[in-house]
Amino acid sequence: MQLPILQPVPTLRKIELKPDVRAEAERIVSRYPVRKAAMLPMLHLMEREFGIVDESAMAYIGEFLGVSPVKVLSNYTFYTWFKRAGTGKYLLQVCCTLPCALRGSDLVVRHLEKRLGLKVGESTKDGKFTLRKVECLASCDTAPVLQINDDLHEHLTIARLDQILDGLK
Ligand code: FES
Repeated sequence: MQLPILQPVPTLRKIELKPDVRAEAERIVSRYPVRKAAMLPMLHLMEREFGIVDESAMAYIGEFLGVSPVKVLSNYTFYTWFKRAGTGKYLLQVCCTLPCALRGSDLVVRHLEKRLGLKVGESTKDGKFTLRKVECLASCDTAPVLQINDDLHEHLTIARLDQILDGLK
């Protein structure tokens, strides 16, 4: 039997937030009855600050909110909208749940793969785009939809999709 390959334990760097970011973190936490309820806004804050939330940032959040780093990791990896290492400048998330599927999300995915020269889950070599299929983006009545970073694009057609991509610098 082959043993699983163990990943080396990452060396954590010490995170010190700038005073204004630290103040924002405290403001966020103060809005919730318990600190751990501020998990998602804290992840967004750290992503905005550092680009991605790495192990060091997760450890910081865990300590700040009083939860284990693995709890932070499970939240971070559950939500598809958080960027991972290697995610391109533009994260394209195509909803492929039934309402969007019935309205042509598959055509959207195929067009993006062809135009950008990648497959779902990959990034372009220039680091500009990453393509993901995701579950419902809560805009089923405007299907098919695509989220690019924080912006939702609704009622997509291939022509509209090309227009949107042309506008991304
Ligand atoms: S199914 Fe696509 S937004 Fe809900």
